[in-house]
Amino acid sequence: MGTAWAPTPLPAEQRVPGYAVMPRRRARLSAAFPGERLIVPAGELKVRSNDEDYRFRPHSAYAWLTGLTGEDQVGHILVLEPSGPEGHEPVLYLRPRSPRGGPNRGSEFYRDRRYGEFWVGRRPDLAEASRLTGVRTEHLDDLEKLLTGPQPATRVLAGVDPALDAVTERPGSPALAAGDGRLASVLSELRLVKDSWEVEQLQLSVDHTVLGFQDVVRALPTALQHTRGERWIEGVFNLRARAEGNGTGYDTIAASGAHACVLHWIRNDGALDPNALLLLDAGVETDTLYTADITRTLPLSGTFSPVQRQAYELVLAAQDAGIAALRPGASFRDFHRAAMRVIAEGLADWGVLRIPAEQALQEDSGIFRRYTLCSTGHMLGLDVHDCAKARAETYLDGVLEEGQVLTVEPGLYLQPDDETLPAELRGLGIRIEDDLVITADGAHLMSGALPRTADGVESWMANLLS
Ligand code: GLY
Ligand code: MN
Ligand code: MN
Repeated sequence: MGTAWAPTPLPAEQRVPGYAVMPRRRARLSAAFPGERLIVPAGELKVRSNDEDYRFRPHSAYAWLTGLTGEDQVGHILVLEPSGPEGHEPVLYLRPRSPRGGPNRGSEFYRDRRYGEFWVGRRPDLAEASRLTGVRTEHLDDLEKLLTGPQPATRVLAGVDPALDAVTERPGSPALAAGDGRLASVLSELRLVKDSWEVEQLQLSVDHTVLGFQDVVRALPTALQHTRGERWIEGVFNLRARAEGNGTGYDTIAASGAHACVLHWIRNDGALDPNALLLLDAGVETDTLYTADITRTLPLSGTFSPVQRQAYELVLAAQDAGIAALRPGASFRDFHRAAMRVIAEGLADWGVLRIPAEQALQEDSGIFRRYTLCSTGHMLGLDVHDCAKARAETYLDGVLEEGQVLTVEPGLYLQPDDETLPAELRGLGIRIEDDLVITADGAHLMSGALPRTADGVESWMANLLS
């Protein structure tokens, strides 16, 4: 079996997407840790059951530094080795494609369900991977050697690859113990401002997500007939996500009626009530692993009832106020505060809030949070809740910068069993979520192809359903 295989080289000109931007990212990381070895793993497979694993997605930091985003990156490791005037030399430790000949006569190729080419498809060999990425490559088996003996000061992105953690935490590797989380936080912080290639990728994910939302509206007549219409909708959106990109960037939320009052309703096992609203929160992840995060709340009848419209328009006004607060130099929390002020004032006008809006807006007032549940947005990028390890002073307590991409997603969640509410408002859950990039003097709405106003939503639905 080890003989008579024709060569099947990858095209010589093939490069990872974003090839040109990767060196600059690595240089920025290098500058933050002079003289230290940095180890960033792609991650390991997770067993689903017996010999079945969950589909693999490399860790976002590894993808961000290498441009390698495929399922074939299982167990791979990027090392930034301190050296030379550049500060660090990047080296990728990879499992090369399954050998067909040699001492084991292709046993991995045929017999290894996890890594054999016959089972899971082709990986690049070491020379191909080096050409694809512009980074020197070594065999993964040689990593152990690197981590044995005298070590430079070393930092590992911990909690991603259990096998690597086991090696670097073993006794006798004191130099590997810089587990203070600084590598993780710096990696998050370097990703706060997107480069222009990333903004293009995010726009692509938004554009594909828009197609998915259109698909869902077209599928409503069928979904309404199904006993689990929410699942039907999830399936329709996810088909588009898988067809256009890598899949969904997070589990799709398809919530009819009061299910929308559960922030992360991903059970999606309900029927669709034709008189209720549908909250759809979904995003397509590109093959390069960037995701959109968009929510629309749609009247399943095609037309908002007066009370649905009243609640919808309050959330829309809050979103408008939030978007208007976006600009470089504004504090990150400003857009949340602006949106919440509109909602608090609206609830006070309706007589739902029985204390002044000002008092309800105090940080510690649970009185108001029962109707809004969470904050109004977050950074968006390779992860849906991007840059989550950034220190508060650079993100949550920081200021906005040109090139950051974020969501603005105020919501009103009026629980069906909330006795503070008049009966007609109970069970309404509304969120409007859009994706924006901060520009020199404000913000650009990336998801503007989907209507936001109540009238706009109704006519968009009518067009798609006609
Ligand atoms: N889909 C999760 C979120 O909106 O943050
Ligand atoms: Mn979001
Ligand atoms: Mn969302």
